[in-house]
Amino acid sequence: MKLAVPRERRDGETRVAATPETVKKFKSLGLEVAVESGAGAGANFSDADYQAAGATVAPSVLADADIVLKVRGPDAGEIAQLKQGAVLAALLAPHSEKDAPAALAARGVTAFAMEFLPRISRAQSMDVLSSQANLAGYKAVIDAAATFGRAMPMMMTAAGTIAPARVLVMGVGVAGLQAIATAKRLGAIVSATDVRPATKEQVESLGGTFVAVMDEEFKNAQTAAGYAKPMSAEYQAKQAALTAETIKKQDIVITTALIPGRKAPILVTEEMIKTMKPGSVIVDLAAGAGGNTPLSKPEETVKAHGVTIMGSTNLPGALAADASALYARNLFNFISLIVDKKTGALNMDWNDEIVAGSGLTRDGAVVHPSLKG
Ligand code: NAI
Repeated sequence: MKLAVPRERRDGETRVAATPETVKKFKSLGLEVAVESGAGAGANFSDADYQAAGATVAPSVLADADIVLKVRGPDAGEIAQLKQGAVLAALLAPHSEKDAPAALAARGVTAFAMEFLPRISRAQSMDVLSSQANLAGYKAVIDAAATFGRAMPMMMTAAGTIAPARVLVMGVGVAGLQAIATAKRLGAIVSATDVRPATKEQVESLGGTFVAVMDEEFKNAQTAAGYAKPMSAEYQAKQAALTAETIKKQDIVITTALIPGRKAPILVTEEMIKTMKPGSVIVDLAAGAGGNTPLSKPEETVKAHGVTIMGSTNLPGALAADASALYARNLFNFISLIVDKKTGALNMDWNDEIVAGSGLTRDGAVVHPSLKG
């Protein structure tokens, strides 16, 4: 059984899907591992590091691979090299890269979209969304602090007192929680908002102030899977009024609000941005999903009404070594589930909710329920 780790081909993708540490673990599962030359360069893992861990390093690794690990989905050239029956695990973004599932199915690849893993306890060690969102939340605050032309903590000096920065975190999932914790550590005054009631206690336990319209709809705004539901127009209007009052007083706003498979909700309107103090900073982690502000642009930093709006869509990639180490461990834990530990052969149990929940294509067809007719 051959496992291949190609070099990522997307612009700006610095992460890699296996590290020397996970190569060793795959070898102990009985797999042969081939890594494409330069695959780890963006995350500071050299070809020699992979070789020392037991991988072969080659200019091209896809053609004879039984298992292919990637960070982002393969491009058309890579899909054309995959062999029929190969297993692929990656962040395949099937809701935005709409042609990919059919192309992978037509090639006869068994593809797993890692973002579809069910959020159950048994899958926590494989949860790539959490491992990457946690780093994104941290980096969002670090980037905002570096861009903000003032200090974060209160400082009492002989020349007078510097007021602490006020940080508002909108959307308190994994990224938002880490953003709150990071902003607190830097000494800011932190408040946060979300539509899921469970987040109130989480915000308060991190020392933040919870700001939200807490009506009947709010009490039922969480799906069984733990995600936010789209909110009614009435709720959004009430939420916007409260946000408008809150946002004027903020120096930094980190937005992370996402609804899986849909466009991100607009939480900060242009009118609200106009009321912010000059020099304020917004980091929009939802910029790649349409944005939580109408002015956010994916991959760009926009200046409008004196406010800097940052729209990086790959903040984990700016921490490539850590992001790769966590992502690679997530993939190792997932692959361990579908490889027989005694024989090293593939052994997928399609009755397992982790396998079925993340399986995108199988036997030449797109099989994930969220993508079928
Ligand atoms: P996400 O990335 O899908 O969304 C980010 C946040 O935005 C969420 O907290 C969501 O409620 C919020 N949001 C959506 N619409 C909003 C609006 N109109 N206004 C304000 N906020 C809005 O969320 P993420 O980080 O993927 O977490 C989703 C859930 O999964 C959470 O409940 C989290 O605790 C849970 N989870 C469970 C795990 C497990 O293994 N049991 C592992 C990781 C997360």
